[in-house]
Amino acid sequence: MTKAPYLRPVAAYAIIALTLGVVAGSFAWVAGWIYWPFVPPPLTAARMIDVFESTTRKHPGFRRNHAKGLCVSGHFDSNGGGAQLSRASVFKRGSFPFIGRLSAPGSDPTQEDADAPVRSFALKMSLPQGEEWRTAMNSVPIFAVSTPDALYQQLAALQPDAASGRVDPAKMERFLEKHPETRAFHEWLAKHPASSNFYNASYFSINAFRFTDAQGNTRFVRWSVVPEAAYQPVTAIDTRDPDFLAHDLSKRLVRGPVRWHLMITPAAPGDPTADATRLWPQERELHRVDAGVVVIDQAESQIDGACRDINFDPLVLPAGIEPSDDPLLAARSSAYAVSFNRRTREEAQAAQPGNSRR
Ligand code: HEM
Repeated sequence: MTKAPYLRPVAAYAIIALTLGVVAGSFAWVAGWIYWPFVPPPLTAARMIDVFESTTRKHPGFRRNHAKGLCVSGHFDSNGGGAQLSRASVFKRGSFPFIGRLSAPGSDPTQEDADAPVRSFALKMSLPQGEEWRTAMNSVPIFAVSTPDALYQQLAALQPDAASGRVDPAKMERFLEKHPETRAFHEWLAKHPASSNFYNASYFSINAFRFTDAQGNTRFVRWSVVPEAAYQPVTAIDTRDPDFLAHDLSKRLVRGPVRWHLMITPAAPGDPTADATRLWPQERELHRVDAGVVVIDQAESQIDGACRDINFDPLVLPAGIEPSDDPLLAARSSAYAVSFNRRTREEAQAAQPGNSRR
């Protein structure tokens, strides 16, 4: 018996529809739009930003992390010393302008400075031939976790309970039990009280990067900026002002610029380059190279200042500097892009006639 002739096109359409369904389904799965029961959805940049958002109320137009901060500008006076480690144009002797941002971690732009044990410094340096070097550093030399997934779990543990509106300490305890690698970060904080201002703190790249010199030799490094001002711990008198960090910087800049030295620390073979929770041995600092001076001479509000619409993506690098194999770096780059897209869209909407700004 021969098959009815109309079945052939029906079968062909069914196969095409099934193929399209599988392809679309795979995209939706990878994008985190559909979930199978009992299978955890993949961690996407959008889900990472969702979990940052879930730790606070809505703050349209603000960064989803490091929400509180201010814009700064100045220049980097390169002394040529970094050229022994990398052929990057930023290490040739010269002066390069930058726009920067000083901030504190956290998703709430209204948080009090007293609540921030960590300070942060981001830079976008403009280099010859349209190159740029963007870096975002924290005042602790290590990170609390080594993988994007662990960061997601940490932030999920900080979500306030829907009924009480409070963070459940038991959730955080369970997270810390499962993640002993976070101990080093907390121990470091316990031994190093926060600085009394933005310009007497050191800031660290934390993640490792790979430098290539003019001869093609490569090595892993971490960098830091070390202040000329002597470190002082924050005091109860400082924290009476909830915005003491920004106020103090503005007052200080009236007297002249503030300065840090950009120090590059090369790794030795075997030093961890893919684990931001681990320090390198202290003796590595004996071989660090002073590459020049980072100078801030101006500060302005982040609401309409030059840093507002900058994404300090740590993977925007000049030739001669490349990412290491640290999995946090790619996750940072993609998460910062989602945060940037959401906040600049909200900015644009607020700027429409008839809408209030923020
Ligand atoms: C997977 C790990 C990380 C994620 C998902 C993450 C997420 C974010 C997000 C969403 C922002 C806001 C970006 C924007 O809207 O422009 C941000 C800013 C920032 N992050 Fe991270 N971060 C991570 C790791 C780190 C590490 C290891 C450091 C320290 C080296 C760091 C330092 C900073 C700094 C300083 C800023 C503020 C940049 C600015 O002033 O705009 N982050 N982070």
